[in-house]
Amino acid sequence: MLLTSPDHFEVAYVINPHMEGHIGDVDAERARAQWDALRAAYERVGMEVSVVAGQPGLPDMVFCANQTLPYLTPGGQRGAILSRMHAPQRKPEVEHYARFFESEGYEVTGLDPDLPGDFEGMGDALWHPGRYLLWGGYGYRTDRGVYDRLGDKMGFPVLPLHLEDPDFYHLDTCLCPLDEHTALVYPGAFDDEGLATIRAHFARVLEAPEHEARDLFACNAHSPDGRHVFIQRGCTETNAMLREAGFEVVELDTDEYLKSGGSVFCMKLMYW
Ligand code: ARG
Repeated sequence: MLLTSPDHFEVAYVINPHMEGHIGDVDAERARAQWDALRAAYERVGMEVSVVAGQPGLPDMVFCANQTLPYLTPGGQRGAILSRMHAPQRKPEVEHYARFFESEGYEVTGLDPDLPGDFEGMGDALWHPGRYLLWGGYGYRTDRGVYDRLGDKMGFPVLPLHLEDPDFYHLDTCLCPLDEHTALVYPGAFDDEGLATIRAHFARVLEAPEHEARDLFACNAHSPDGRHVFIQRGCTETNAMLREAGFEVVELDTDEYLKSGGSVFCMKLMYW
């Protein structure tokens, strides 16, 4: 898995509602300590961590889930699809991940140049655990049409989900696939059709309460192994549900990153 060092992380502009009022407000030392603890937590559960260095002038690079969509085809081919970032401030981040995946020997492809629309990688595009099936959030950062083309080209089905609430501007803020049968969601971020699709594909759907989802990014949690769940500290009701469902909760402090509209899930990138 991949992390990006927070050397240049700050809130320098506002591109989502969570960033409002936080320009210049990040405590760099706390942010570093929180990132170090996140990395240590992944290493403790046996994950091998690679790091792409954060770059000056690219304060959101630390959210390294957004610049690519790594894949493994059923035929065993590994690759990464490059994002087309919606925010102009974030566009130059992508090339750093292209270079990383090229150096790992991956097939790296961009979106077709004649295809209009933005795409923010694993901010909006989430693999269904254990299947070659993609959940595709759209409405704020990613355009729906991008998924049709990607799915056709790569041979995977896409289940599109319209995002309805600007606080939940990426799919990974409101849908967290925990294992093949279990998802954690914030229902208020979806329309009825989207919720029905989620319920049709996950036998167990845990619902985070509004405060924990909106303010603590409960659904931006991550299960690296289908057993542990890494989540922002203080999601009391969500944690009780997770434990009841048999998961081992690992609480982490990401509040410096919450100021920028991100938490655990978007601070890492899983690849094969
Ligand atoms: N400030 C970043 C942005 O608005 C935060 C991205 C967080 N990523 C995520 N997948 N939720 O783009």
